[in-house]
Amino acid sequence: MAASAKSLTVDGATLNGGWTVVLPRRGRQRRKAPKAGILEEKQEAWAPTDSQTDPLRETKLMQKVEKCITKVGSSKFYLTFQDQIETSVLDHFHRILGSEIKIQMVIFGIGSLELYEPPCLQLSLAMLMKRDFSWIGNIEVFDPILSVTESKVLEALGCSVISINEHGRREALKPTMFFMPHCEAELYNNLLRANWKPELLSNMVIFGNSFETYEQHASICKNSPILNSMEHILAVRSFTDEFRIKTISDDYYNAFHDSSWHFFGSVNEAKLQSINS
Ligand SMILES: C[S@@+](CC[C@H](N)C(=O)[O-])C[C@H]1O[C@@H](n2cnc3c(N)ncnc32)[C@H](O)[C@@H]1O
Repeated sequence: MAASAKSLTVDGATLNGGWTVVLPRRGRQRRKAPKAGILEEKQEAWAPTDSQTDPLRETKLMQKVEKCITKVGSSKFYLTFQDQIETSVLDHFHRILGSEIKIQMVIFGIGSLELYEPPCLQLSLAMLMKRDFSWIGNIEVFDPILSVTESKVLEALGCSVISINEHGRREALKPTMFFMPHCEAELYNNLLRANWKPELLSNMVIFGNSFETYEQHASICKNSPILNSMEHILAVRSFTDEFRIKTISDDYYNAFHDSSWHFFGSVNEAKLQSINS
């Protein structure tokens, strides 16, 4: 499956350390949240649906995000987060990087930056990682609910907004960090299913809801239909190295509770084959 995101360069502009700024294609669809089951659909072209841009709204959102980045960047939460990377998970990143210099970041399911605080805090964390870790490369973002204003602000921050709804099925053909805070189980499952080979799983790390917690829920709710959409999450557990994020204070609980880094270094091929891909 192609990992490419179809995007258009805007004004040929390159901002913030050489990140190419791209803009999704404009469309006439209405802005709406995905319906149940949409994650099973095929890839399709996407564009923000509120085709009007409003410079004042963009400025306001940019100020909100910048304020949030400053807040997170000076927090004890971020210090602890950085410390965890340096002391506990850096070796895993090095393994994924191999001889590559950069790991690309793909952000799925960030949510509405304009309407809610957790998405702003989550985006701030991604931006701070990009600022502080030289081995983090380009950032691509996709959420079907993004508005034009949100897309423009993301672009101004140096991110590329993806104009295809991949439903999470991006193959990790090169080192890739999937930054997916508080996404639905189906999205992690789609991603894992698309990468159900040792050489792909070993290229990726997922920041998202704790797979350990999913497993605990699964052991309690044995007959729940939701288990059908978690098959790959549960199957990958036996070769997942998981590191929990410490939320430290109430300020960061809503955005990061029950979040973890997930690495897949010691994949057992026979076990992979026992699960349908
Ligand atoms: C539970 S919300 C989490 C939003 C935000 N990260 C937060 O913590 O508040 C899940 C998000 O996933 C997004 N989503 C749904 N389908 C998606 C897809 N195919 N690709 C990327 N994001 C998707 C939804 O629009 C929604 O914003």
